[in-house]
Order: sequence, then C-alpha cells, then structure tokens
Amino acid sequence: MKAALCVLAVVALAGLCALTNAQSPPEGIVLGDELTSTEFLNTVNLDNCAELTDSSAGYYFEGGAATGLTRDRCSVGGTCQCRQFTDGCDNGNCVRVWPCTVEGGGISSACQAITNCTQTVFETIMEVEVECNRQNMTDKDEADLDEFGAKWKQALAEDCNIGRVCRYNGDSSDTIDVVAYNLFRTYTLNEAHVDDIDACAADTLFRFNRCTVLSARSWPSPDFETFADCMLSYSHYSVSARDQLYSCECGNVTSSTTFDEIQDIFECYRFCAANTADRNCDYVVTTTSTTTTTTTTTTLECPTVETPEAQVVYEFITFGISAPEGNEVRCVGYADGGLASYENVTTDMEDFWTVPLFDGAYGGDYFAIADNSTGSAQLLVTDNLNDTYTHVCSARPAGSSQLCPLVMTDPTSSSTVA
Ligand SMILES: *[C@@H]1O[C@H](CO)[C@@H](O)[C@H](O)[C@H]1NC(C)=O
Ligand SMILES: *[C@@H]1O[C@H](CO)[C@@H](O)[C@H](O)[C@H]1NC(C)=O
Ligand SMILES: *[C@@H]1O[C@H](CO)[C@@H](O)[C@H](O)[C@H]1NC(C)=O
Ligand SMILES: *[C@@H]1O[C@H](CO)[C@@H](O)[C@H](O)[C@H]1NC(C)=O
Ligand SMILES: *[C@@H]1O[C@H](CO)[C@@H](O)[C@H](O)[C@H]1NC(C)=O
Ligand SMILES: *[C@@H]1O[C@H](CO)[C@@H](O)[C@H](O)[C@H]1NC(C)=O
Repeated sequence: MKAALCVLAVVALAGLCALTNAQSPPEGIVLGDELTSTEFLNTVNLDNCAELTDSSAGYYFEGGAATGLTRDRCSVGGTCQCRQFTDGCDNGNCVRVWPCTVEGGGISSACQAITNCTQTVFETIMEVEVECNRQNMTDKDEADLDEFGAKWKQALAEDCNIGRVCRYNGDSSDTIDVVAYNLFRTYTLNEAHVDDIDACAADTLFRFNRCTVLSARSWPSPDFETFADCMLSYSHYSVSARDQLYSCECGNVTSSTTFDEIQDIFECYRFCAANTADRNCDYVVTTTSTTTTTTTTTTLECPTVETPEAQVVYEFITFGISAPEGNEVRCVGYADGGLASYENVTTDMEDFWTVPLFDGAYGGDYFAIADNSTGSAQLLVTDNLNDTYTHVCSARPAGSSQLCPLVMTDPTSSSTVA
C-alpha cells in the first residue's frame, strides 16, 4: 500500500518520496536507507545503554511506528540521560531508524551520534539500614550482592513507586559498599532522594532479597581531616603516629571523582589509618586492585598482663610478672619528689616506654627495669633504693616500639626507706 502511494507520489512530486520513506523528513537532514532494528543494533553494538549526542552525522529516529525498536529511559543508576534500545517492539509506539547527515555539516538534534552510555556515580552517599533474615550483608559475596542490587532497584520501583530509578545507584556489587551486617552504602542524586527512601521504609513494607529496609540517611562524604580526627578518638595513636596520619595524602572526593576513584581514596584512608596506628593494634589490611590482592598484616598486639605483684625485699623492690614468650616485660617507678622531667613515667604510655632503662640505685628519681619474657612468671628486681616509688608494669612484643597499656601493680607504690 505504502509502495503504491509512493509510486503515485513519485509521479506527482518527483524526488521527495525517492529520497525517503520517513513520515516527516526533517529539513536539512539527509537520510540514508532505513535500517532494520537488527541492523541498527548490530551496527552500534552497544554494551547496554546509548548516549545520544546532537551531531552532524549519526542516526535519525522516528517514533509512532507499528513495529521497530523500543526506546526506554535507562534504569541503571546514573544513566538517566541515556536510552535503552531493544528489538521486537510491536505496540504501535515503536521507533524506526535511518542513518543521517546534516546538510552543510551543521549540528542537529534530529541527527544523533550514539556512544555507549557513561554511567555517573552520584555524589550523595546514602547509608541504608536493613534487616536480613537468611544472610547478613557481610556474608554476601559479589554474586550475592549483584542479585541483591538487581532486586533493590526492582523494589525501588515496585515497593516505593519510584519512577526514575536511574537516580539511584546500587544496581550491582560495583556500587554497593557493605559497612556492617545490617548496613550498606550506595549513591544517589541528592539528599531529597535519600529522604524518599527513608519515608518509603517507614511507610511501606520495603522488602526484597529476604531483607527489609528499615531506614536510610545520607552519609557525609568525609574529607580526610574529619576522618583522621575521628580515627584519633580511638586512642590507637601516639603523638608521632598522629603526625604521620595527618601527613597521609589520599586525594579528595569531588563531583568529578568516579566511583572507582572514590573506592581507591577510601581504601587509602583505611590503609593509612591502619598503617600509622601504633597503640594496641592488631589489624589486617587487605588491598585489592583489579589485578592483585596484597595482604599486609601489622600485628602489634599487646599481651595481656595480670596484675604484677610488688614486694619490698630489703632495699629492693621485686615485681612478679608474667607475659607470653616473645614479649618484653617492663616495670617503671617514679620516686616521691623525683625530677619533674620524669613525672609522667608511670602515667603516660609514651614516657613509660621511652624512658631509658635504669635500675634505680640509691636516690634514683625513677627506675625502669626490663627483661625478655620467659613465658611464665618471672621476677624483675631493682637495685638498692632508699625512697618511696609509685610503679606500674607492662609488656609489649619484643623489638617493637608499640606503646602497650600500663598495668597497675599490687600495691601501686612501695617504700624502701628503712
Ligand atoms: C560500545 O562498546 C563496545 C565494547 O565494549 C564496542 O565494541 C562498541 O563499538 C561500542 N559502541 C559504540 C557505539 O561506541
Ligand atoms: C547476622 O549478624 C548478627 C550480628 O552479628 C547476628 O546476631 C545474626 O545472628 C546474624 N544473622 C545471620 C543470618 O547470620
Ligand atoms: C584536599 O582538600 C583540602 C582542603 O580543601 C586541601 O587542603 C588538600 O590539599 C586537598 N588534598 C588533595 C590531595 O588534593
Ligand atoms: C606530664 O603530663 C602533664 C599532663 O598531660 C603535662 O602537663 C606535663 O607537661 C607532662 N610533663 C612532662 C615532663 O612531660
Ligand atoms: C639515698 O641514697 C643516696 C645515695 O647514698 C643519698 O644521696 C640520698 O640522700 C638518699 N636518699 C634518702 C631519701 O635517704
Ligand atoms: C632481649 O633479648 C635480646 C637478645 O638476646 C637482647 O639483646 C635484649 O637486650 C633483651 N632485652 C631485655 C630487655 O633484656
């Protein structure tokens, strides 16, 4: 029928119909032969979604056809500007496609170049609290998280009635960071979208993949200083370690930082914090990159020391102390009225562990005695003393500069004044 019409038209208006079958060929757009859906899809060979850019050469699309391509907005997070083309449309609202060029080489919105869609990872970090029945978040491997992500996106539409799910990341393990057994982080366009999720969790049964969403809140993307300040509140840092921590350079998260870069930056934060901590730590850092997995183990575990017993024997003070083999045991005392420069040797871990060894001999302002641990109870003994001393003991891995916590002796002070 159309062909017959066209033949008639050719007779009447030579040229127009011969040029194209498009219903409304745009002015200045030169069309090639119409492509079938399959030809088009094979030619562009998209990974997934298409990014369309006004161009001087590309494709001309015409909607409202009986059959052809579907052209939907992409649902993958951060691809709202992209379109998904699929074959097999027959709902009467299908898209036909022609290759095109613009006459005179100008740029036209009717002739669009096609590239693979570039996904945006949004800047707003959203922390989502869930209650999972069968499998905690921390027990999910990459495949589990991929499935979780697919169902999360589906539930956004079905449970929360969110139209543009492309405004939420979390489609797969790539954009889901598990924080705890009941907590994960992903990214969204802005804080209003976090509030929508929180409201949905409060008002409806927002449930998928055997997990119920309980709440959502935005999580500040920390700059390094905020992060470092927070780390310092955990008393794993001596003064010098604190300076080292602050001198780490991990880069900043900005609007143009990609998701991979964000992960690298946070990994750097974590690595830096673990590597500089020097008090009471036993921390395993696993660095994963696309090609290698490196595990750095920093074992700086302080041994447990039971209350050491102090006894005055003649003019000596003895300490009965026990720590596992491989540690150094140390006891330090400060004399009543001793020099002010030693005033903190029994209260400050750094002073305790850095004061030079000295057995105290008559009149000492302090004593600091140490030995390698034998693995069972052993005695540390001062030299002759003639004063009252307040004392503490501790133990740390031999050869380390770990500042292990101080342990009160029983009693906490002894007087050797005859
Ligand atoms: C999309 O990416 C694939 C490879 O991942 C490539 O073969 C194809 O040519 C790209 N398509 C376009 C339109 O750039
Ligand atoms: C999930 O983790 C919590 C907290 O560690 C624990 O109490 C719970 O039993 C775990 N549930 C499952 C299914 O592993
Ligand atoms: C990150 O931002 C802070 C504060 O704006 C700036 O002082 C610092 O130099 C930046 N660091 C890097 C690595 O760009
Ligand atoms: C001992 O600690 C106190 C309180 O932290 C501090 O003010 C004082 O300067 C310290 N003394 C020495 C000698 O470091
Ligand atoms: C302790 O002995 C030293 C050395 O004999 C002496 O100088 C000091 O005055 C004595 N101190 C006391 C408190 O007896
Ligand atoms: C521990 O043993 C090593 C090697 O035998 C020795 O050099 C070190 O001085 C000892 N440390 C103490 C506190 O006795």
